[in-house]
Amino acid sequence: MDNNFKNNIIWQKHSITRTKREKKNAHKSIAVWFTGLSGSGKSSIANFLEKILFKNKINSYLLDGDNIRSGLCSDLSFSVIDRQENIRRIGEVVKIMLDAGMIVLISVISPYRYQREMICQMIGKKNFLEIFVDTPISICESRDPKKLYKKARSGKISNFTGIQSIYEIPKKPDILLNGTDSLEDNSKKLIKMLYDHNVISFLNTN
Ligand code: ADX
Repeated sequence: MDNNFKNNIIWQKHSITRTKREKKNAHKSIAVWFTGLSGSGKSSIANFLEKILFKNKINSYLLDGDNIRSGLCSDLSFSVIDRQENIRRIGEVVKIMLDAGMIVLISVISPYRYQREMICQMIGKKNFLEIFVDTPISICESRDPKKLYKKARSGKISNFTGIQSIYEIPKKPDILLNGTDSLEDNSKKLIKMLYDHNVISFLNTN
């Protein structure tokens, strides 16, 4: 058996590059990484933003933790090591989507600081915007849209983030959003961030 199989993998350069795709799209690629507790509002904010982007013919895609865990990462649990692998795989998908010219919105708890730093390194700082959706756990728990906090409190789920498993607050996110503010207000802040980083040049928000 060939144990050096990795030496026989040769990266293929394609003619249609990211730069060409960005030019065609008239916007840049970027990863907008939403981190925060379950129920903090990450997915709702990302979904609201994506509707605005879509209306404006911007190429985007929303990668959502629950959805990714239904397929690509369905073999992974919520142990520290599996969460690490979950994030690593998502990072690889994000890299491909950036190359494909997309604005990638990622909504995953990603509770550990080192994981988010790993992603930032994997895809490069200039490609990565970290959004902290800051919602107190008491509010997340009172919302409990999937009734998972209730299950965690009664011991039916283990390692639940915020209950039996830690969430490390980002030290210097690109934006901190208050998860109790309106979707309109939060998406305005994100759109401004995309302008400020020269990702987009014009957007109709009406
Ligand atoms: S992460 O911690 O590995 O980044 P991810 O965002 O992919 O988490 O998945 C989180 C979603 O899985 C939550 O929104 C929730 O619906 C569900 N979930 C199921 N079990 C857990 C758990 N033990 N901790 C956190 N979320 C869980």
